[in-house]
Amino acid sequence: MSDGAGTDGGRTVIGVDIGGTGIKGAPVDTSTGSLVRERIRLLTPHPATPAAVAGVVAELVGQLDCPGPLGVTLPAVVQHGVARTAANIDDAWVDSDAAALLSDATGRPVAVVNDADAAGVAEMRFGAGVGQDGVVVMVTFGTGIGSAVFADGRLVPNTELGHLPLHGGDAEDWAAASIREEEELSWKKWAHRVERYLQLVERLLWPDLIIVGGGVSKHADRFLPHVETRARVVPAEMHNDAGIAGAALFAPAG
Ligand code: BGC
Repeated sequence: MSDGAGTDGGRTVIGVDIGGTGIKGAPVDTSTGSLVRERIRLLTPHPATPAAVAGVVAELVGQLDCPGPLGVTLPAVVQHGVARTAANIDDAWVDSDAAALLSDATGRPVAVVNDADAAGVAEMRFGAGVGQDGVVVMVTFGTGIGSAVFADGRLVPNTELGHLPLHGGDAEDWAAASIREEEELSWKKWAHRVERYLQLVERLLWPDLIIVGGGVSKHADRFLPHVETRARVVPAEMHNDAGIAGAALFAPAG
Protein backbone atom coordinates (compact mmCIF):
# COMPACT_ATOMS: atom_id res chain seq x y z
CA MET A 1 0.00 0.00 0.00
CA SER A 2 1.37 3.37 -0.94
CA ASP A 3 0.81 4.95 2.49
CA GLY A 4 2.93 2.25 4.15
CA ALA A 5 0.03 0.85 6.16
CA GLY A 6 -1.58 -2.55 5.67
CA THR A 7 -4.54 -3.22 3.39
CA ASP A 8 -5.84 -6.46 4.75
CA GLY A 9 -9.14 -4.87 5.54
CA GLY A 10 -11.40 -6.50 8.02
CA ARG A 11 -9.43 -7.29 11.11
CA THR A 12 -9.68 -5.88 14.60
CA VAL A 13 -6.33 -4.75 15.99
CA ILE A 14 -5.21 -2.52 18.80
CA GLY A 15 -3.89 0.92 18.02
CA VAL A 16 -1.99 2.80 20.72
CA ASP A 17 -1.24 6.52 20.55
CA ILE A 18 1.58 7.69 22.83
CA GLY A 19 1.48 11.40 23.57
CA GLY A 20 3.20 13.80 25.92
CA THR A 21 0.35 13.70 28.45
CA GLY A 22 -1.69 10.58 27.72
CA ILE A 23 -1.33 7.08 26.26
CA LYS A 24 -4.55 6.08 24.51
CA GLY A 25 -5.55 2.81 22.94
CA ALA A 26 -8.48 0.87 21.56
CA PRO A 27 -9.23 -2.05 19.25
CA VAL A 28 -9.87 -0.71 15.76
CA ASP A 29 -11.81 -2.15 12.84
CA THR A 30 -9.21 -1.63 10.13
CA SER A 31 -11.77 -1.71 7.32
CA THR A 32 -13.60 1.38 8.65
CA GLY A 33 -11.11 3.01 11.03
CA SER A 34 -13.71 3.02 13.78
CA LEU A 35 -12.94 2.11 17.36
CA VAL A 36 -14.61 -1.15 18.29
CA ARG A 37 -14.97 -0.07 21.91
CA GLU A 38 -14.34 3.08 23.88
CA ARG A 39 -10.68 3.94 24.15
CA ILE A 40 -8.71 3.67 27.36
CA ARG A 41 -6.44 6.54 28.37
CA LEU A 42 -3.66 6.25 30.92
CA LEU A 43 -1.33 9.05 31.94
CA THR A 44 2.08 9.24 30.31
CA PRO A 45 4.65 8.57 33.05
CA HIS A 46 7.16 11.29 33.90
CA PRO A 47 9.92 11.04 33.00
CA ALA A 48 8.61 9.34 29.84
CA THR A 49 11.55 6.94 29.55
CA PRO A 50 11.26 3.96 27.20
CA ALA A 51 10.97 1.48 30.09
CA ALA A 52 8.33 3.51 31.94
CA VAL A 53 6.24 4.09 28.80
CA ALA A 54 6.53 0.42 27.79
CA GLY A 55 5.17 -0.53 31.22
CA VAL A 56 2.11 1.70 30.75
CA VAL A 57 1.53 0.40 27.20
CA ALA A 58 1.61 -3.19 28.53
CA GLU A 59 -0.90 -2.26 31.25
CA LEU A 60 -3.20 -0.55 28.75
CA VAL A 61 -3.07 -3.42 26.27
CA GLY A 62 -3.80 -5.87 29.09
CA GLN A 63 -7.00 -3.95 29.87
CA LEU A 64 -8.23 -3.98 26.26
CA ASP A 65 -9.00 -7.67 25.99
CA CYS A 66 -8.07 -8.01 22.31
CA PRO A 67 -5.38 -10.46 21.23
CA GLY A 68 -2.89 -10.00 18.42
CA PRO A 69 -0.35 -7.49 17.14
CA LEU A 70 -0.18 -3.78 17.92
CA GLY A 71 0.39 -0.59 16.02
CA VAL A 72 1.86 2.14 18.20
CA THR A 73 2.59 5.82 17.57
CA LEU A 74 5.40 7.88 19.04
CA PRO A 75 5.83 11.66 18.89
CA ALA A 76 9.22 11.14 17.25
CA VAL A 77 10.92 10.37 13.97
CA VAL A 78 10.64 6.60 13.61
CA GLN A 79 12.69 4.74 11.04
CA HIS A 80 11.97 1.03 10.73
CA GLY A 81 10.88 0.80 14.36
CA VAL A 82 13.80 2.83 15.72
CA ALA A 83 13.08 6.24 17.29
CA ARG A 84 15.48 8.90 16.05
CA THR A 85 14.33 12.03 17.88
CA ALA A 86 12.54 12.90 21.11
CA ALA A 87 11.03 16.39 21.05
CA ASN A 88 8.31 15.94 23.68
CA ILE A 89 9.38 12.65 25.28
CA ASP A 90 12.47 11.57 27.20
CA ASP A 91 15.81 11.83 25.36
CA ALA A 92 16.51 8.17 26.14
CA TRP A 93 14.19 7.26 23.21
CA VAL A 94 16.73 8.52 20.67
CA ASP A 95 18.15 5.55 18.74
CA SER A 96 16.19 3.05 20.83
CA ASP A 97 14.51 0.14 19.06
CA ALA A 98 11.00 1.13 20.11
CA ALA A 99 9.31 -1.72 18.24
CA ALA A 100 11.50 -4.36 19.93
CA LEU A 101 11.11 -2.75 23.35
CA LEU A 102 7.29 -2.60 23.14
CA SER A 103 7.15 -6.10 21.70
CA ASP A 104 9.17 -7.44 24.67
CA ALA A 105 6.99 -5.54 27.14
CA THR A 106 3.68 -6.76 25.67
CA GLY A 107 4.67 -10.16 24.22
CA ARG A 108 3.13 -9.19 20.87
CA PRO A 109 4.38 -8.21 17.41
CA VAL A 110 4.57 -4.39 17.31
CA ALA A 111 5.03 -1.76 14.60
CA VAL A 112 5.88 1.80 15.61
CA VAL A 113 5.16 4.89 13.52
CA ASN A 114 5.31 8.67 13.93
CA ASP A 115 2.09 9.97 15.51
CA ALA A 116 1.26 12.55 12.83
CA ASP A 117 1.99 10.05 10.04
CA ALA A 118 -0.45 7.62 11.65
CA ALA A 119 -3.13 10.29 12.04
CA GLY A 120 -2.57 11.43 8.46
CA VAL A 121 -2.93 7.93 7.05
CA ALA A 122 -6.20 7.50 8.96
CA GLU A 123 -7.54 10.81 7.65
CA MET A 124 -6.53 9.97 4.09
CA ARG A 125 -8.19 6.58 4.27
CA PHE A 126 -11.30 7.31 6.30
CA GLY A 127 -11.60 11.05 6.96
CA ALA A 128 -11.01 14.48 5.45
CA GLY A 129 -8.53 13.28 2.80
CA VAL A 130 -10.57 10.51 1.19
CA GLY A 131 -10.20 10.58 -2.60
CA GLN A 132 -7.80 13.55 -2.55
CA ASP A 133 -4.86 13.26 -4.91
CA GLY A 134 -2.09 15.79 -5.48
CA VAL A 135 -0.20 17.07 -2.45
CA VAL A 136 -1.93 16.89 0.93
CA VAL A 137 -0.38 18.16 4.15
CA MET A 138 -1.91 17.11 7.43
CA VAL A 139 -0.78 19.21 10.37
CA THR A 140 -1.57 18.20 13.95
CA PHE A 141 -1.69 20.86 16.64
CA GLY A 142 -1.19 19.52 20.17
CA THR A 143 1.70 19.58 22.62
CA GLY A 144 3.89 20.05 19.55
CA ILE A 145 3.13 20.32 15.84
CA GLY A 146 3.22 17.14 13.79
CA SER A 147 2.99 16.73 10.02
CA ALA A 148 2.18 14.10 7.43
CA VAL A 149 2.79 14.78 3.75
CA PHE A 150 1.12 12.81 0.94
CA ALA A 151 1.72 12.92 -2.80
CA ASP A 152 -1.11 11.18 -4.66
CA GLY A 153 -1.90 9.24 -1.51
CA ARG A 154 1.69 8.14 -0.90
CA LEU A 155 3.08 9.08 2.50
CA VAL A 156 6.49 10.73 2.78
CA PRO A 157 7.22 9.71 6.39
CA ASN A 158 8.83 11.75 9.17
CA THR A 159 8.52 15.19 7.59
CA GLU A 160 8.71 16.99 10.98
CA LEU A 161 7.36 20.30 9.70
CA GLY A 162 6.63 21.39 13.27
CA HIS A 163 10.30 22.22 13.58
CA LEU A 164 10.41 24.67 10.68
CA PRO A 165 11.90 27.96 11.83
CA LEU A 166 9.27 30.58 12.59
CA HIS A 167 9.21 33.66 14.82
CA GLY A 168 12.81 33.20 15.94
CA GLY A 169 12.60 29.52 16.91
CA ASP A 170 10.86 26.22 16.25
CA ALA A 171 7.38 26.81 14.81
CA GLU A 172 5.85 24.47 17.39
CA ASP A 173 7.21 26.59 20.24
CA TRP A 174 5.14 29.51 18.94
CA ALA A 175 2.09 27.97 17.27
CA ALA A 176 1.31 24.61 18.93
CA ALA A 177 -2.07 24.25 20.62
CA SER A 178 -0.30 23.90 23.97
CA ILE A 179 1.14 27.42 23.50
CA ARG A 180 -2.38 28.82 23.06
CA GLU A 181 -3.23 27.41 26.48
CA GLU A 182 0.07 28.37 28.13
CA GLU A 183 -0.10 31.96 26.93
CA GLU A 184 -3.88 32.13 27.33
CA LEU A 185 -4.27 33.39 23.75
CA SER A 186 -7.74 33.99 22.34
CA TRP A 187 -8.72 31.64 19.50
CA LYS A 188 -8.39 34.58 17.11
CA LYS A 189 -4.88 35.50 18.29
CA TRP A 190 -3.79 31.89 18.06
CA ALA A 191 -5.41 31.61 14.60
CA HIS A 192 -3.03 34.34 13.46
CA ARG A 193 -0.09 32.15 14.47
CA VAL A 194 -1.64 29.12 12.76
CA GLU A 195 -2.08 31.20 9.62
CA ARG A 196 1.55 32.37 9.65
CA TYR A 197 2.66 28.78 10.12
CA LEU A 198 0.47 27.31 7.37
CA GLN A 199 1.57 30.05 4.97
CA LEU A 200 5.18 29.03 5.63
CA VAL A 201 4.32 25.39 4.91
CA GLU A 202 2.57 26.53 1.72
CA ARG A 203 5.60 28.44 0.49
CA LEU A 204 7.61 25.23 0.72
CA LEU A 205 5.21 22.53 -0.46
CA TRP A 206 2.30 24.13 -2.33
CA PRO A 207 -0.28 21.64 -1.09
CA ASP A 208 -3.67 21.22 -2.77
CA LEU A 209 -5.27 20.50 0.60
CA ILE A 210 -4.31 21.15 4.20
CA ILE A 211 -5.93 19.04 6.92
CA VAL A 212 -5.79 20.52 10.41
CA GLY A 213 -5.77 17.82 13.05
CA GLY A 214 -5.16 17.29 16.74
CA GLY A 215 -7.59 17.86 19.61
CA VAL A 216 -8.23 21.44 18.37
CA SER A 217 -9.86 20.12 15.20
CA LYS A 218 -13.02 19.73 17.29
CA HIS A 219 -13.04 23.52 17.70
CA ALA A 220 -12.20 24.34 14.09
CA ASP A 221 -15.10 26.80 13.82
CA ARG A 222 -13.40 28.98 16.44
CA PHE A 223 -10.12 29.48 14.60
CA LEU A 224 -10.22 28.26 10.98
CA PRO A 225 -12.49 31.14 9.82
CA HIS A 226 -9.58 33.45 10.76
CA VAL A 227 -7.02 31.45 8.77
CA GLU A 228 -6.39 32.39 5.15
CA THR A 229 -4.35 30.09 2.99
CA ARG A 230 -3.97 29.61 -0.72
CA ALA A 231 -4.87 25.93 -0.44
CA ARG A 232 -8.19 24.67 0.82
CA VAL A 233 -7.92 24.02 4.54
CA VAL A 234 -10.28 21.64 6.32
CA PRO A 235 -10.50 20.22 9.84
CA ALA A 236 -9.65 16.58 10.43
CA GLU A 237 -12.72 14.42 10.77
CA MET A 238 -11.44 11.75 13.12
CA HIS A 239 -10.25 14.21 15.78
CA ASN A 240 -8.41 12.50 18.62
CA ASP A 241 -9.11 9.00 17.31
CA ALA A 242 -7.01 9.46 14.17
CA GLY A 243 -3.76 8.46 15.89
CA ILE A 244 -5.23 5.28 17.35
CA ALA A 245 -6.92 4.30 14.06
CA GLY A 246 -3.81 5.08 12.02
CA ALA A 247 -1.59 3.15 14.43
CA ALA A 248 -3.78 0.06 14.05
CA LEU A 249 -3.38 0.21 10.26
CA PHE A 250 0.37 -0.20 10.68
CA ALA A 251 0.15 -3.24 13.01
CA PRO A 252 2.18 -6.16 11.64
CA ALA A 253 0.47 -9.31 10.43
CA GLY A 254 0.03 -12.07 12.97
C1 BGC B 1 7.79 15.80 17.07
C2 BGC B 1 7.06 15.02 15.97
C3 BGC B 1 5.61 14.79 16.37
C4 BGC B 1 4.95 16.09 16.77
C5 BGC B 1 3.54 15.88 17.26
C6 BGC B 1 7.01 17.05 17.38
O1 BGC B 1 7.65 17.74 18.41
O2 BGC B 1 9.09 16.14 16.64
O3 BGC B 1 7.72 13.81 15.74
O4 BGC B 1 4.94 14.22 15.28
O5 BGC B 1 5.69 16.73 17.79
O6 BGC B 1 3.49 15.08 18.39
